[in-house]
Amino acid sequence: MVETQVWRVDPGAPDLEHTPQIIAAAEKLIQGEIVAFPTETVYGLGGNAKVRESVHKIYEAKGRPSDNPLIVHVATDEQVRAICTEIHPIARKLMDTFWPGPLTLVLPSRSEVSDSVTAGLSTVAVRMPSHPVARALILASNLPIAAPSANRSGHPSPTKAEHVFHDLDGRIAGILDGGETGVGLESTVVDCTTTPITILRPGGISKEQLIEAVGAVSDDPGLTRSDQIPKAPGMKYKHYAPEAAMYLVPSGMERINELISADKNNERTIGVLTTEENRDSYPGADAVLVCGKRSDPESIAHHLFDVLRRFDQKKVDVIYSETFPEYGIGKAIMNRLSKAAGGRMID
Ligand code: TXA
Ligand code: MG
Repeated sequence: MVETQVWRVDPGAPDLEHTPQIIAAAEKLIQGEIVAFPTETVYGLGGNAKVRESVHKIYEAKGRPSDNPLIVHVATDEQVRAICTEIHPIARKLMDTFWPGPLTLVLPSRSEVSDSVTAGLSTVAVRMPSHPVARALILASNLPIAAPSANRSGHPSPTKAEHVFHDLDGRIAGILDGGETGVGLESTVVDCTTTPITILRPGGISKEQLIEAVGAVSDDPGLTRSDQIPKAPGMKYKHYAPEAAMYLVPSGMERINELISADKNNERTIGVLTTEENRDSYPGADAVLVCGKRSDPESIAHHLFDVLRRFDQKKVDVIYSETFPEYGIGKAIMNRLSKAAGGRMID
């Protein structure tokens, strides 16, 4: 057990890099400790990407399988060049268009970072976050920061410092609390070593946005086909799962109400994941949690992981979830929901 310090920071404060909180967190990283910090997607759990022992601490604190590589977070072009052997024109175009921001690029690795970051692969995942606290921490430590999402492996990713504290108190040196994250879902992971480039994990930047920037973009078959192994090792694991059994119900409200009536006879307590538009449509459910507005998919992404965690507090036996159109950010929302439900769906 270590004592987990919590440093509150205002992401809007001037000259963040030189504030006592950021300096304290950066010192921990330099000493080889691991700290959590907010990004524009979710909270990350960071350590020095160059030092094996620091990277091991991340895997250990999360309980993460060591064959699942980490994303390296950078703040400057110079750091990118130190980590990758080559940046071909399409990768460059993606960086110029979407960085800093919620896009991770898989590029050929220069072995500047520890082998344990890349899980022995010849490629490395790199991302330049836009969150001012993340940027300040990278600059103050002057390190490439290896950081997965700051949750215990299998849990929903953290979008609030409280989520990190709940999962990792006593396991990490500190948490920079910069309030709620923005997007609420993780970055899009794109493999730039294939032609065309391949989406390995849908996320904060949509396929439509990528196509607009670079033309051809393919999806990793492992994302949708059960007979294919996903190329991002992390996508094969159970993830984001609330404690209750969750089911996606594409046909929606009426069907969910039928299921609730049937469950009532079996004395199961029932949760429903819904939207602002339908909040009063499930009078028979024990816990109705609203994750945003159907007319505003970004609001759903923003609240999704928090809502999944809140179902655990409600102690329901089963959760029925509405589903969403798989367009724009909707694709990432449905990817996370489907993982949270372990693929279970009711017609
Ligand atoms: O938004 C995000 O990406 C957050 C914040 C903290 O930046 N980070 C995050 O990291 O979600 P993590 O570790 O939870 O997810 C990284 C994903 C995993 O699915 C991993 O398998 C994949 O990226 N990945 C990492 N390196 C890879 C590589 N060289 N080749 C293929 N997939 C890779
Ligand atoms: Mg994660």
